[in-house]
Amino acid sequence: MIELDLASKQHDETRQGEALILENKTVEKNQRKLYIESYGCAMNFSDSEIVASILSEDGFSTTPDYNEADVIFINTCSIRENAETRVRNRLKQFKAIKKTNKGLVIGVLGCMAERLKSKFLEEEQLVDVVVGPDAYRDLPNLIKQVNGGQKAINVLLSREETYADLSPVRLNSNGISAFVSIMRGCDNMCSFCVVPFTRGRERSRDAHSIVKEVTDLLNDGYKEVTLLGQNVDSYKWTSEDGKEKVNFAHLLEMVALVSPTMRVRFSTSHPKDITHEVIETIAKYKNICNYIHLPVQSGNSRVLGLMNRTYTREWYLNRIDAIRRIIPECGISTDIISGFCTETDEDHQETLSMMELVKYEFAYMYSYSERPGTPAAKKFTDDVSPGLKQKRLEEIIALQQIHSRYRAQIRVGKIEEVLIEGFSKKSKTDYCGRSDHNHMVIFPVVKGYQPGDYVKVLVEKTTTATLIGSIIE
Ligand code: SAH
Ligand code: SF4
Ligand code: F3S
Repeated sequence: MIELDLASKQHDETRQGEALILENKTVEKNQRKLYIESYGCAMNFSDSEIVASILSEDGFSTTPDYNEADVIFINTCSIRENAETRVRNRLKQFKAIKKTNKGLVIGVLGCMAERLKSKFLEEEQLVDVVVGPDAYRDLPNLIKQVNGGQKAINVLLSREETYADLSPVRLNSNGISAFVSIMRGCDNMCSFCVVPFTRGRERSRDAHSIVKEVTDLLNDGYKEVTLLGQNVDSYKWTSEDGKEKVNFAHLLEMVALVSPTMRVRFSTSHPKDITHEVIETIAKYKNICNYIHLPVQSGNSRVLGLMNRTYTREWYLNRIDAIRRIIPECGISTDIISGFCTETDEDHQETLSMMELVKYEFAYMYSYSERPGTPAAKKFTDDVSPGLKQKRLEEIIALQQIHSRYRAQIRVGKIEEVLIEGFSKKSKTDYCGRSDHNHMVIFPVVKGYQPGDYVKVLVEKTTTATLIGSIIE
């Protein structure tokens, strides 16, 4: 089990938003202080910005130091067992602070709060408040209850809440890229997945409020937005008078038209829902990045059926063909689960052969973790042994490394348009930034160019997945 955790952690670290500990900025001084830490997907990261916004109205500023906090929130993830274990371990560390600071409020937010509800208050004695993803507007009130000596909980899910009117407080921001949530919840019932239970029904946010948020970001100097949803292709918004109907392709176009200098990314696409119209819209606008994250989960149609993904191997490959035909240079990444219920060696071989056919730029790879209450937990036996899941996962990871290297190497000698994000992690004499199709690119700092600028970089060499080059203009 420990090895499984390590294997998936390696990949979590590369995933935007996964297991991300926010390095919050202190917004204003002399107020009550909030420390917030986020785990899980980009959606949780984005929700923490909503939470900071709601609490800033209530006199809180954020702090990067939990020792000076009046309120500590952990925004949690339930997607795999190890995600929950990590949160529990973190809570244990906060126990010590609670001993010396009796007035400290500790809260659990997000998916684990929703999944465990009041059980959390019983299990983890130090937690004062439990709040699900649709109840953040109630936070000031819940904190008041706790200050009054009670425990507080609100885990009501909503069919309408999208926090559309709120301006997120950008946490841990480089001032260049931002997440913009376009919808909440999920109506798909992939049998392995806890998200429909923790996030509730799918609902799409008012398209104009999305465009307004992107326009505000542009005016604040941002250069890249990532539109977020569990299944962005099923985005569907209708105005109150019923006259305006916006699907994901239209929304992409509306956002792309905010400014040609604003890059647009999005995540996550679902293979059953991604349309020609969406692919063509990506191709039509230069500022919509040529990059699609298209989780396959398994390469075997029988397993996909048990997963209730509602597409087959052939359908998926057909989508890949359409993407390659319409956007030949498109970067494609995926999510893969090893060792789902009943998976045989032959089924696993089909996942490997799918990888061979697509040769993904990147992949996030996990071994199956049974989640209580999901359709798979109810209907199927988790019958692939941990050792076998791990062995298959390692094969998947090893093959992906070969493909990542291949995809990076074919960029050598090419010129990439890169948005400079900042200095590279390793050196202040190098900049880093992402190419259009989402490769990290490292290149020496050249006077006159700064973070937020677009530059053309000639790729000279690569590491496994990173391109190394120099600015040509
Ligand atoms: N909405 C996105 C995925 C959200 S969860 C989509 O449909 O693609 C991110 C990834 O976590 C999933 O794509 C899947 O690969 C993985 N995942 C979800 N539940 C899991 C489980 N029970 N065990 C292992 N991996 C899981
Ligand atoms: Fe989970 Fe499937 Fe919804 Fe993604 S589409 S969040 S995997 S149920
Ligand atoms: Fe995201 Fe984890 Fe919830 S992946 S939606 S935070 S279960």
